[in-house]
Amino acid sequence: MHLAIIGGTGLSQIEGIDEVRHQVVSTPFGEPSGPVTIGRMQGCQVVFLPRHGYNHRIPPHQINYRANIWALRELKVSRILAVAAVGGIHPDMGPGSLVVPDQLIDYTWGRPSTYYEGDLDSVTHVDFTYPYDASLREAFLAAGRALDLPMVDGGTYGATQGPRLETAAEIRRLERDGCDVVGMTGMPEAVLAREAGIDYASLNVVANWAAGVHDGETVSMKEIEKTLSTSMRQVRRVLKEILGG
Ligand code: HPA
Repeated sequence: MHLAIIGGTGLSQIEGIDEVRHQVVSTPFGEPSGPVTIGRMQGCQVVFLPRHGYNHRIPPHQINYRANIWALRELKVSRILAVAAVGGIHPDMGPGSLVVPDQLIDYTWGRPSTYYEGDLDSVTHVDFTYPYDASLREAFLAAGRALDLPMVDGGTYGATQGPRLETAAEIRRLERDGCDVVGMTGMPEAVLAREAGIDYASLNVVANWAAGVHDGETVSMKEIEKTLSTSMRQVRRVLKEILGG
């Protein structure tokens, strides 16, 4: 059974994959974000899919999450390592931090977010008490230890609708709710993986302080891009370590 990497902002392309081929996968839910890249990394079979497309043109609320996860399932993927850029809310999770969340809260709306609708034999409710797979979370953390790269073990991810960034009041509300980081793509990706029976964990790369965390400051896309270009080099090392180890 295969391992897949879903790349986010700053990780639309993957390097270090050999024997590469690209496969277009059609699904009953429409087109995935692009053809899936299949190859070998560190000798391991790996499948790669950039959730925003290869040229980063699909905004978070228009990603076809159902098609993406379905395509991976069709390819017999049983484990997904997701990478996602986030804003930092918790004081220990500033720009440049790597966070392996263990919980999430979903604030998104209007996104097709289940496979269990339409022509059903029976109503199904998946368990989602612990949204992230413990052994894949540990794989991220172990790679961080092996590479001497600090990672935050645990935290709550708040999934917002986007594509706009949040207001300061929205971030204060997320903070009161217990969110430590905020991003726009963590849901419904995580729950669809659960419904599809695929283990899933996410590595969150903090690109900026979330809106209003520091009084009077606004969020700069320039800062986000700059932080991500450094941090994604670390993420590539982490993925290599997981696949090689
Ligand atoms: N908010 C939501 N999503 C994000 C942010 C943010 O501040 N930074 C990177 N992705």
